[in-house]
Amino acid sequence: MFVQSPPMGFNTWNTFMEEINEDLIKSTADMMVESGLLAAGYNYLVIDDCWALRERDAEGNLVADPEKFPSGMKAVADYVHSKGLKFGMYSCVGTMTCARYPGSYGHEYRDAKTFADWGVDFLKYDYCFRPKNTKGVDLYRKMAIALKKTGRDILFSACSWGHDETKEWIDATGANMWRATGDIKESWQHIRDLARQGAEMNFRNWANCFADLDMLVVGMNGEGACSITACNADEYRTHFGFWAMAGSPLMIGCDIRKMDETAKEILFNKDIIAINQDSDMNRPLQIAASDEQGDWNESGEDTYTLVKVLENGDIAVGFFNFSEKKMRRYVTPSMLGLDADMPIQFKVKDLWNGEYVELSNETLFRIIQPHCCEIYRYEVANG
Ligand code: GLA
Repeated sequence: MFVQSPPMGFNTWNTFMEEINEDLIKSTADMMVESGLLAAGYNYLVIDDCWALRERDAEGNLVADPEKFPSGMKAVADYVHSKGLKFGMYSCVGTMTCARYPGSYGHEYRDAKTFADWGVDFLKYDYCFRPKNTKGVDLYRKMAIALKKTGRDILFSACSWGHDETKEWIDATGANMWRATGDIKESWQHIRDLARQGAEMNFRNWANCFADLDMLVVGMNGEGACSITACNADEYRTHFGFWAMAGSPLMIGCDIRKMDETAKEILFNKDIIAINQDSDMNRPLQIAASDEQGDWNESGEDTYTLVKVLENGDIAVGFFNFSEKKMRRYVTPSMLGLDADMPIQFKVKDLWNGEYVELSNETLFRIIQPHCCEIYRYEVANG
């Protein structure tokens, strides 16, 4: 299966952890359609860990917990599909999943067939309880092949948290996306640290094997299972904008049945989603703070200026301030390759408010408050 742009959808883990059941999945599916999330591109509904019984059946098959899923997983998948959504599930390379349900180690082909029979379109595959002397690369490759052998298109989402130098081998396994970081929690510090990890590896990202900075916490408002401290609207914008510019998959982790206006404003931002989904899948370039002069945050630590060249020749520029000091930055045409040898025109659109900005001397000069971000699209026209 070839995946051209970062997968988008919803995953149960951040808010619900083990509190999952058939009604939750059905009502979430309903809301993904009614709220417009599906139309905005969020098309995968993924059940994370804790869906199974603690034991396999006598033949060795995984069994969905009949108390949580009394109609069985096939019926749940059918319901999700009837809404025009794709259906995702979860397993693990090891003998157990991270929450100690049965893992797929030694059962890869059987489990892949079970998932395919149920109508699964997406498998998240975790990294807990891996037997000693096994290698991540072999275990992920094995499940990738098992999934292919089912004959069903199943997006393969590896989740080894960047461990064991995942970035060096994951694209060779056939995984379509891979967790580059540890688990997100809802707290500003967690978001800042995951952003730092993404930037440190220079957004090692390519079409069909997307580096995943983990699920979004936008809209959780301190209420989900993974919440530590509620983030504010600015922080949610910075989190979402950074994940989007980084080319990370955009998997929503809040209870979408309770999305407030702030969450909607952020998650439905078409212009920012378009940057994330741009078909060229160019990695964003980081403009180092030392190139920008006149910093208030002198070291540039936890501040990022990201530049992403888009498929039609437009350019996205994002300023992200994860630090506690104001960030002062400017971008000149020559820093973007727009110091052209023939007349070239560009308009600069602020993607949070949709307005075009006035430049002075063709330079975009911005002061970004702590925890805030601004994202611009340079719409470039020749002649
Ligand atoms: C790991 C993963 C999480 C989640 C849990 C489930 O911690 O990184 O995203 O899937 O396991 O137990």
